[in-house]
Amino acid sequence: MPTTITICDTCKREGWDATSGTTDGEALAALVEAAAATAEGVVTRRHSCLMGCSGACNVTVQAPGKMAYTLGRFDPTEEAAQGIVDYAARHSAAETGVVPFREWPLPIKGHFVTRHPPLADEG
Ligand code: FES
Repeated sequence: MPTTITICDTCKREGWDATSGTTDGEALAALVEAAAATAEGVVTRRHSCLMGCSGACNVTVQAPGKMAYTLGRFDPTEEAAQGIVDYAARHSAAETGVVPFREWPLPIKGHFVTRHPPLADEG
C-alpha cells in the first residue's frame, strides 16, 4: 500500500492575504501534488481542515499498518513540499512507517505535531 499525504486545503497562515483567491493550503497542496507526481510509493489527497488550524499549513502522512504522523507549521514553498514528499517516500519504504531521524529531510525537521500508532487490526 502506498503512503498517503493528506494536505489540508483550507489552511491559512497568520497574515494570509484574503484577496489572493487561494488559501495557503491550496498553494501547498499544488506544490506537494507536483512533487509527488514522480515519487515512488506516494499518493496525495486533499481534505478541508485537519483541525490544526492554528499551526497551518498541515499535512498527514499515513498508510495501513504503519505509524501515522501529522506535520504542520509549513510555508507553501517548493522546498517544504519536496521535503514532505521525500519523507513520505521514506515512510512508504519503511516497514513500520518509522523513519530514522538521520533520514529525515531537512525541511520537515521541527514540523512534527503528532504521531498515531496503527490500530491492532491494521497490520
Ligand atoms: S484549516 Fe487546515 S487544519 Fe483547519
